[in-house]
Amino acid sequence: MPAQVLNLPAMTAAQVAGDVHVTTLVQAMAGDFVRQGWAVRENFLELARWQALAAEAEQLWEQGAFRKAGIGRVAAQHVDAGIRGDYTLWLDAQRTSAATGFVARELEALRSTLNAAAYLGLFEFEGHFARYPADARYARHLDQPGGSEARRVSVVLYLNADWQAGDGGELCLYPSGPLQATAATAVRVLPRGGTLAIFASADTHHEVRTARRARLSLSGWLRSRA
Ligand code: OGA
Ligand code: MN
Repeated sequence: MPAQVLNLPAMTAAQVAGDVHVTTLVQAMAGDFVRQGWAVRENFLELARWQALAAEAEQLWEQGAFRKAGIGRVAAQHVDAGIRGDYTLWLDAQRTSAATGFVARELEALRSTLNAAAYLGLFEFEGHFARYPADARYARHLDQPGGSEARRVSVVLYLNADWQAGDGGELCLYPSGPLQATAATAVRVLPRGGTLAIFASADTHHEVRTARRARLSLSGWLRSRA
């Protein structure tokens, strides 16, 4: 793992256990995930919470802190804007704030609930802010680079105000299984502020459709040790 990829320190269970509050919303999402391999909820975070995250991310973007995202094996990352057009900023110990700390506790609740429900052995979260400039996309892909199975559950929290259907930028999920989705039946998620999407990293193909305006998220993976 490259040196800049550090995990949110608040995300180990021991550090946040006292603050974790498992809500019915988290339980419902975990139930959906166990049943169908994905879950989506609008308003997972209330307005003030995700707006604080969006403001923090935009400020860091203005400061030039984001980097062009790579594709493929971690050891041999390259940049192909036609396939993947986003810029990312990894969350790390130096970058925790009240806003990211709150999300860390929500994701810790999700992690422990998923473990209890499905014995996934999820152990930590790694994540980044991601910003797609207008006209960027991420072609259909899976989230387990280099054959590593450590990424078990992909997590995307959207941070965009007033997103309209005509703005594009949908996350399209193609869940695996007997009802393998096609483009026509894919699960489409608009990247509206406060919406959370989670899906099984190993076998859920997905893509980010071209957006007509800049598109911001906090995204990452709940990981096992393997
Ligand atoms: C990714 C990804 C989905 C999204 O970063 O790997 O697929 O909706 N993101 O931003
Ligand atoms: Mn992905």
